[in-house]
Amino acid sequence: MKLTLHARAKINWSLSICGERPDGYHSLDMLMQSIELCDVLSFEPARFLSLTVDGKKLPIGNRNLVIRAANALNETLGLHNGARISLKKNIPTRAGLGGGSADCAMTLIALNRLWNLRLPLRTLQQIGLKLGADVPFCLQQGMARAEGVGEILTPLESPPMIPLVMVTPGGGLSTPAVFKAWSAGNYPMSRIDNLALAGALKARDFARAQALSCNDLETPAIALMPEIGALIDRFRSLGAAFVRMTGSGSTVFAAFESEEAARRAADAVPGAILTRTTADPL
Ligand code: C5P
Repeated sequence: MKLTLHARAKINWSLSICGERPDGYHSLDMLMQSIELCDVLSFEPARFLSLTVDGKKLPIGNRNLVIRAANALNETLGLHNGARISLKKNIPTRAGLGGGSADCAMTLIALNRLWNLRLPLRTLQQIGLKLGADVPFCLQQGMARAEGVGEILTPLESPPMIPLVMVTPGGGLSTPAVFKAWSAGNYPMSRIDNLALAGALKARDFARAQALSCNDLETPAIALMPEIGALIDRFRSLGAAFVRMTGSGSTVFAAFESEEAARRAADAVPGAILTRTTADPL
């Protein structure tokens, strides 16, 4: 039996920081959505655990979230199961697109099936949260408001498909570095009505969505990497209906009214990826 699964990236329509926690994490209020851009993972039964990424075998002690997810399942259940796993990366890394978290989430889902563990989604989310704050959302997909560190999820109805263009400048950014820059910089904490934002997106009222949205990490990320600010301006000048940095960056995404407009913008910006939102949860 070979299982092949698509690990979808996510975007943040918003990210508001609500406070700093004693464990060093930040409590957040976010509107997140799965998009079509995805990594592809395949899983086959095997005696031992192995992982190849884009055809290259990784050492098993590697900190890759796929290996860590498999180890976490084994450890939680006191098992020593194996699997031959291969990962084809399409999602840029250090991008704010949740690529590592998506791979982690799909590994938990796939091995739950391959190893016939029958763990409910809730349990996979509890295991996944220890591996990354975005993993619970990636296990659920669709559109959701995410609070806490990202684990308190309110599923929301996805808007009809929205064409997106995105660029990840400068080889990406480190998430801890961006949060640290936010803490050091005394930046304000915005308040966002994420339910109203979700409503505006559903109504395709992008001007209202833009006015309602904020990403508190955008300003510190631009201070670390000014190309992010330049890209935001570039997408606006190309007629984007909505522009935002996703997560802790460095990816900037732009929503367009039509696929045609998105394609034209993607042709005009070097390194652009053309994709779209996706409506269907798992
Ligand atoms: O959980 P994850 O590994 O994705 O988080 C990476 C880093 O991002 C954390 O070590 C922390 O510095 C920062 N972070 C945070 N607050 C969150 C999520 C992540 O400070 N809610």
